[in-house]
Amino acid sequence: MSAVFQALNLRKSFGGLAVTQDISISLAAGDRVALIGPNGAGKTTFVNLVTGHLAPDAGNVSLAGRDVTTLGPRARANQGLVRSFQVTRLFPDMTPEEHLALAVLQRTGRAGRFFGHYRAKAGVMAEVVELLSTLGLATIADHKVSEIAYGQQRLLEIALALALRPKVLLLDEPAAGVPQADTPRIEAALAGLPADLAVLMIEHDMDLVFRFARRVIVLAAGAIIFDGSPQEATRDARVRQAYLGSYADDRRLA
Ligand SMILES: Nc1ncnc2c1ncn2[C@@H]1O[C@H](COP(=O)(O)OP(=O)(O)OP(=O)(O)O)[C@@H](O)[C@H]1O
Ligand SMILES: [Mg+2]
Repeated sequence: MSAVFQALNLRKSFGGLAVTQDISISLAAGDRVALIGPNGAGKTTFVNLVTGHLAPDAGNVSLAGRDVTTLGPRARANQGLVRSFQVTRLFPDMTPEEHLALAVLQRTGRAGRFFGHYRAKAGVMAEVVELLSTLGLATIADHKVSEIAYGQQRLLEIALALALRPKVLLLDEPAAGVPQADTPRIEAALAGLPADLAVLMIEHDMDLVFRFARRVIVLAAGAIIFDGSPQEATRDARVRQAYLGSYADDRRLA
C-alpha cells in the first residue's frame, strides 16, 4: 500500500548528542503502530521533527507524497498530520465543548470571527456533540477543564486531535498519568479511532501497546533497533535487552 506518511533519514543532534540518527518510518492508511523505547530514546523528538515543532538537521517528511519538511506545525495539521502531546496542553478555564468548538472553527478557518457565537452554528455544534459523545465526554461538556479528571482531560485531547480530521495521528503517551482505573476508557477511545486513519502511538504501558498495535517500532539511543510485529518484538534479543526484557519474561510471551 502506498504511504500516507513518510519520514526519510531524519537526523537531529542537541549539542553533541545525536538524539535522532537516520530514522525512516512510513505509515499507510489504517496502520496501528506503537513507537516504544526507554526514556530518552528520542520518541518525542521524532514526533517534534515530524510535526514541525523542531527542525531536523537532515532528512525530510512527506504526506501523501508531498514534501512538508519546510512547513510549520499548523500547515502540517491542515494537511492532516496531527499530534497529541505527552503532557496536557489544555486551557484550565475553558470547557471541553469550548475546546472542541475552537478546534472545529480553527480547522474551517473561522476561529477568529465566530468563536463567541459557536453555539448558533449548527454544523459546528453537531460536530462538537458527536465528538463529545464518541469520547464519552458528553456529561462533562460544560465543566471547566480544571474541574474534570485527568483521564477525561486526556480523552479531550484525543477528541481535539480528531476535530482536526487527521489522516495521520501521532499520540505521545495518551495514557500517561491516567489512573489505572481509567485506562480502559483511553483504550476504548483508541479502539474507536477511524479505521482508515494512520496512527502512531508512543506508549510505555505494554499491555496497552500489545492490544493496540499491529506493528511495533523500537527506538533505543536515537536509532530504530526493531520494526515488526508485536510477537516478533517480544522474541527479539536486542529489543528484550534494550527495553522489553522484564515484560516478555513476566508474560512468558517469548
Ligand atoms: N530541546 C532539547 N534540547 C536538548 N536536549 C533535548 C531536547 N529535547 C530532548 N532532548 C534530549 O534528547 C533525548 C531524547 O529525548 P526525548 O524527549 O525525545 O525522549 P523520549 O524517548 O520521548 O523519552 P520519554 O520516554 O521519557 O518521554 C534526551 O536525552 C533529551 O534530554
Ligand atoms: Mg517522550
